[in-house]
Amino acid sequence: MLKSELDKLLSSCMFLIDRCVSSQELEQAKVATLGKNGRVTLMLKGLKDMEIDQRRELGAQINSIKEQVLQRLVQKFEELSAREMETRLSSEFVDISMPARDTYRDGRLHPITKVHEEILEIFANYGFRFVDGPDIDDEYNNFTAVNIPEHHPARTMHDTFYVNLLADDQGRKLLRTHTTAVENRALRLHGAPSRFFTIGRVFRSDYDATHTPMFTQIEGVVVDKDVGFAHLKWLLTDFLRKFFNTDTVNLRIRPSFFPFTEPSIEVDIAYSQHKGKITLGSGENWMEICGGGVLHPTVLQSADIDSQLYRGMAFGFGLERLTSLKYGVPDLRGYFESDERWRKVFGFHGFTR
Ligand code: DAH
Repeated sequence: MLKSELDKLLSSCMFLIDRCVSSQELEQAKVATLGKNGRVTLMLKGLKDMEIDQRRELGAQINSIKEQVLQRLVQKFEELSAREMETRLSSEFVDISMPARDTYRDGRLHPITKVHEEILEIFANYGFRFVDGPDIDDEYNNFTAVNIPEHHPARTMHDTFYVNLLADDQGRKLLRTHTTAVENRALRLHGAPSRFFTIGRVFRSDYDATHTPMFTQIEGVVVDKDVGFAHLKWLLTDFLRKFFNTDTVNLRIRPSFFPFTEPSIEVDIAYSQHKGKITLGSGENWMEICGGGVLHPTVLQSADIDSQLYRGMAFGFGLERLTSLKYGVPDLRGYFESDERWRKVFGFHGFTR
């Protein structure tokens, strides 16, 4: 074999290696030179047909070529992989100063939950005790104990859902139609003097834009020796100031009728409306927001409280209406439809607690 042939072998191998621009190409060059059918390998295989002397001399030379090719391969590999690492590092760079992804998919607090918590806080600061009652109550607590006797027209006015459970000496089971149903139990439990409130669901068979079969009420009661209208008026005004975060709360008090209070009142709040936006506090319009009055002596007596010695005042609000006024929620039905899009608009982030 001519020396020029050996030179050609070396230079062609080096050429194959040097022109590689990626480690993937270099892998192919390695196969083409030192692989099973690579140029150098084939040359070595060819030795077996030669004379022993020639084989020895040529073998040494080809092995030296093999050694040089291998060295060049290793060197080129290091060079290429360093360069590739560099481009990867600069292209796969993570910008940790980028703003985090929006937390849109987080759940929202229902506005009723939010307002529920706001009201808890206000009444807790007045020193009112939170009391609770069952959604499924009975005729005694919902009606009889709060001075709505059997055959009283108020019973039919309430469009009650009766529950198909066995009636007992407390009457038929029903879904409570108002939170006034907690009064008798709470009065028995805490006696006099006491002040308590509740927030809870109530149910009536009614459904249109301003009525839903389920809604939420707040009920408050104060029993003491000398409570009366002046306290009630102060409390309602102060509560509304705190709740709506404003000093200008203009209230109008009208005489009304509730069986459990005598005398009874209804309270309207002044508001103005400009381009559909309601502003509370002052204005020509009035919106009814709560009922209340001085507890009827019968209500105290049915909880074994001496109605000669003690008097009580009570009030009740609809929570959805308060919420709509404060946060501008339009249709009452939205509160109960569990529509994600509605919650996105009217719900609150947990952090706003
Ligand atoms: N229970 C009444 C209703 O459902 C609201 C109410 C009015 C509650 C006067 C009271 C009250 O405690 O004194 O419409």
